[in-house]
Amino acid sequence: MGVEIVPTDAPVGAEIRGVDLSLPLSNSGLAAVDNAFNDHGVIYFRDQSLSPEGLLAFTRYFGDLQFNVFGEDHGLDDHPGIVVISNIEEGGREIGVKAAGSRWHSDMCYTANPPRGTILCAREVPDQDGLTLGDTCFAATHAAYDDLPAEMKERLEGCRAEFDFAGRQRAQIITQEQRERFPPVTHPIVRTHPVTGRKCLYVMRDDCTGIAGVEEGEAQRMVAALADHIIRPEFIYRHRWRAGDVLMWDNCTVQHLAIQDYALPMRRLMHRTTFAADAPPA
Ligand code: SIN
Repeated sequence: MGVEIVPTDAPVGAEIRGVDLSLPLSNSGLAAVDNAFNDHGVIYFRDQSLSPEGLLAFTRYFGDLQFNVFGEDHGLDDHPGIVVISNIEEGGREIGVKAAGSRWHSDMCYTANPPRGTILCAREVPDQDGLTLGDTCFAATHAAYDDLPAEMKERLEGCRAEFDFAGRQRAQIITQEQRERFPPVTHPIVRTHPVTGRKCLYVMRDDCTGIAGVEEGEAQRMVAALADHIIRPEFIYRHRWRAGDVLMWDNCTVQHLAIQDYALPMRRLMHRTTFAADAPPA
């Protein structure tokens, strides 16, 4: 059977059918998956049985592994390239990063070269009386850009957002070493997707600390207005997880938010990998 691509009703997201990720991908299978990834920004495969080694091998088809600073203390035993995201506690200790992604963001936007994509493999999904919890939402940044009025598009031409890892949210929790590893950076507010050429908005309310050359109050207002625009309901795909899902997203085309609507004894366990982009984003 060939690869079948079933888009969601949202401007991002597609289910990929006819692929068993526990087996090596053929050249044509990989090309189909890679094209779907670029076209749809979020793709997912249901009912997979992927070992940690399989997840790492699948990730490497798309780029080199990139390590997320928030996963440094929660790498999977024997597979430090995989970050455990979980609310589970064992022996009084949290086994993974708890409440990861509880604010809208694009992964590692505070680095000079943010990752191309991220993969989540759902091992355990919380459920209450048959109702699945712990969904993840994805906002289509290209659809949000396309929807802007022409004057705003013109105004944003050449504007660069400032990102400071040590900024507002994290000042109290990061170490001096992390501060030095991630000095402030800027990225274009309008990023051009390296493959599709689509224009994507790259602004987040919590991570952007300013806009280069724009007075602070004005910059904060612009960041807030754009960030709110990106997450309008019509731009969002909401993924309802099933154990066995493997889902990957493009950090230029989407921002994401993990809904924290569950608590122990309901368990959520995800394995996450992140892969690098070839070159700094345009
Ligand atoms: C993340 O932001 O990487 C976590 C997403 C999720 O757990 O659904």
